[in-house]
Amino acid sequence: MTKDLFERIIEDKGPLGKWAKQAEGYFVFPKLEGNISNRMIFNGKKVITWSINDYLGLANHPEVIKADADAAAEYGLAYPMGARMMSGHTNYHEQLEKECAEFIDKEAAYLVNFGYQGMVSAIDALVTKNDVIVYDMDTHACIIDGVRLHAGKRFVYKHNDIESFEKNLQRATKLAEQTGGGILVVSEGVFGMRGEQGRLKEIVALKEKYNFRLLVDDAHGFGTLGDNGRGTGFEQGVQDGIDVYFATFAKSMAGIGAFFAGDKDVIQYLQYNMRSQMFAKSLPLAMVKGALKRLDMIRTMPELKDKLWRITNALQSGLKNAGFDLGTTQTCITPVFLKGEIPEAMAMVYDLRENHGIFCSIVVYPVIPKGLIILRLIPTASHTQEDIDETITAFSEIRSKLEKGIYKRIGATMV
Ligand SMILES: Cc1ncc(COP(=O)(O)O)c(C=O)c1O
Repeated sequence: MTKDLFERIIEDKGPLGKWAKQAEGYFVFPKLEGNISNRMIFNGKKVITWSINDYLGLANHPEVIKADADAAAEYGLAYPMGARMMSGHTNYHEQLEKECAEFIDKEAAYLVNFGYQGMVSAIDALVTKNDVIVYDMDTHACIIDGVRLHAGKRFVYKHNDIESFEKNLQRATKLAEQTGGGILVVSEGVFGMRGEQGRLKEIVALKEKYNFRLLVDDAHGFGTLGDNGRGTGFEQGVQDGIDVYFATFAKSMAGIGAFFAGDKDVIQYLQYNMRSQMFAKSLPLAMVKGALKRLDMIRTMPELKDKLWRITNALQSGLKNAGFDLGTTQTCITPVFLKGEIPEAMAMVYDLRENHGIFCSIVVYPVIPKGLIILRLIPTASHTQEDIDETITAFSEIRSKLEKGIYKRIGATMV
């Protein structure tokens, strides 16, 4: 007898879903209201927002709001209809691709509607069953899902560990020699949880010894690193060594959409083979025109990135001076490492939000090992020194309560 499919789903809600009753609307699916900025409304109260990824403060910039509104007034949100390949192509899509490619020094670029889908589909398109993928253990879920679609072999290396990378590259080389395939290496420019940069310089240097192509997801590096925010490849001086560059518009660009960039032939191949784009509606023109405006601002307003880094440096040095462990971050991403279990973490974050007016993301097991808590702060160009000072004072108070076991007692009543 077969089992009803939904029986399992109702019984086992998954590692996060099992917390839904305690967490929904507050720790997960929270609603931040008001204009996107350093201070928004949560649960009826004003909070300092450290979790919205609006690195350059463009989301609520008057010029951006105007560009978006003008484009929506002119074209609505539907135009163009159909997939790019069929009927959804425009001059503006082409212009944005050209400008993205020029900005990051690649021959060509291809726009995609969502970074996540795009990455899954690009990995699927780039490899066949004879090819081998080598990828970092800590890469984003979209890369993991892309790798899952791969019908051939894959090797995962220890996070940012070049010795482990080379060992796996050797295994991949041996295998690819047997299958007659090639090797795709995938890393992130910036790892989103802990804020480390991918070791692109060392990876690219190994191209001297091994034959592989490098795909880099630079979601958090685009706009924040390198001269003018041109990304992690520029930051490390190895942009030429990145064969396929990816950035989403969901962070520094404060929009939606993403792009891949590389040599013309490779980009043309993606245009004709990426199933998530061939069989999905084109990015609406309002988004495309809005993205053109944002890209222009990133290019011509270096003061936005300078401000982001002033805030980042003040936040990170302030937290370090107050004795907090920020791990090994080398970027704006500011993880504050604390020790405790999930119920304690929930009680602590509740206190932070309700009594200290601080809204940040909380990262716990299974994303990181059991017993660790990360309070993850994403500074932006719209934060102020006052935001930083209030946050550090609040963090010092909650750490002291955590160490005294106060949250353990409260947390036990929350679960
Ligand atoms: C590293 C990384 N890659 C890809 C994505 C997915 O991009 P999008 O939000 O455009 O789907 C994200 C999250 O936005 C990300 O952090």
